[in-house]
Amino acid sequence: MSETKKRILTGDRPTGKLHLGHYVGSLVNRVRLQDEYECFFLIADLHTLTTRPEKEHILELGQNIREMMLDYLAVGIDPEKSVIYLQSAVPEVYELNLFLEMLVTVPRLSRLPSIKDMARAAHLGDAVPFGLLGYPVLQAADILLPRAHLVPVGKDNEAHVEVTREIARRFNSMYGEVFPIPEALIGEVPVLVGIDGQAKMSKSLGNAIYLSDDPKAVRRKVFQMYTDPNRIRADIPGRVEGNPVFIYHDVFNSDKGEVEDLKERYRKGRVGDVEVKEKLARALNAFLDPIRERRAYFAGQKGLVEEILYEGTLRTREEARLTMNEVKKAMGVASVWNRIRRKTEERRKKQGVQ
Ligand code: TRP
Repeated sequence: MSETKKRILTGDRPTGKLHLGHYVGSLVNRVRLQDEYECFFLIADLHTLTTRPEKEHILELGQNIREMMLDYLAVGIDPEKSVIYLQSAVPEVYELNLFLEMLVTVPRLSRLPSIKDMARAAHLGDAVPFGLLGYPVLQAADILLPRAHLVPVGKDNEAHVEVTREIARRFNSMYGEVFPIPEALIGEVPVLVGIDGQAKMSKSLGNAIYLSDDPKAVRRKVFQMYTDPNRIRADIPGRVEGNPVFIYHDVFNSDKGEVEDLKERYRKGRVGDVEVKEKLARALNAFLDPIRERRAYFAGQKGLVEEILYEGTLRTREEARLTMNEVKKAMGVASVWNRIRRKTEERRKKQGVQ
């Protein structure tokens, strides 16, 4: 039956704990699509090497990977339905990456704002490593290896899926139809603002609420949240539009009546920030409670998380081998070696008989 389902591939670099921005930007889509699609979720540890190739960094990844696995499982990615795998343990991705590198130009990659952004964030100046320029190509290899149809990602990855589509089209027209042309699926709330109200939620900016934050931490962060700065007293009418507190209420508070009532009173200057925030903290904690419960369950089963990743990685490798056979056959790259091997085996057999 799974043969007839279309495929999803997506994933994250194991940079640590995931936050609400990841949730609305792509996790929620992943969870929702698990029944309809055959899903592959990758932990993109190779991608972290593009900005941080140092051994100390590599050795830290283990902890981040466990943290991220727990977040995946906590939000409802179900290992009975979906595959979670470790990118660096699938050698075929390195192979496909090399072939795909031939199908995209340096200027095309250099123009991508994401490469410049990552170089800036990593304080690399103009010293962009070849591998960082190739970040989107490695991502294309991830997506094309299981021959995925759909790629649920945040807005910041949309351009990389576009590069993938171009590479897949180029491959198919040069060598034959091997790859479906994948489509990006952008989250319903493409970018969630951080608690500072200034920029998108991100770990490096320190403005994130994590899926693994406890109720106290969530409450404390909500009470630090930026609101309408002109509203220095509760009886001053406030602005709801673009106000982070109300953006979060809209996204996370399931009691829509309560949200409407708060908005109306806020606009009229009839509600204090404390009440608005108290209700937001409660709503967020109600949203996070089932996530916390699942996290605790998986964290409590010794070795289970590792086994899920192990199984998923082996499953992905099977798929990867099939694709690479198709790729090499289509390209003709294996033909010389196959002839040499056949001839040699025949020769040895004959010699053996003699
Ligand atoms: N680029 C993604 C990120 O922002 C991680 C990633 C690597 C990815 N390979 C992918 C996402 C393939 C979707 C599909 O961290």
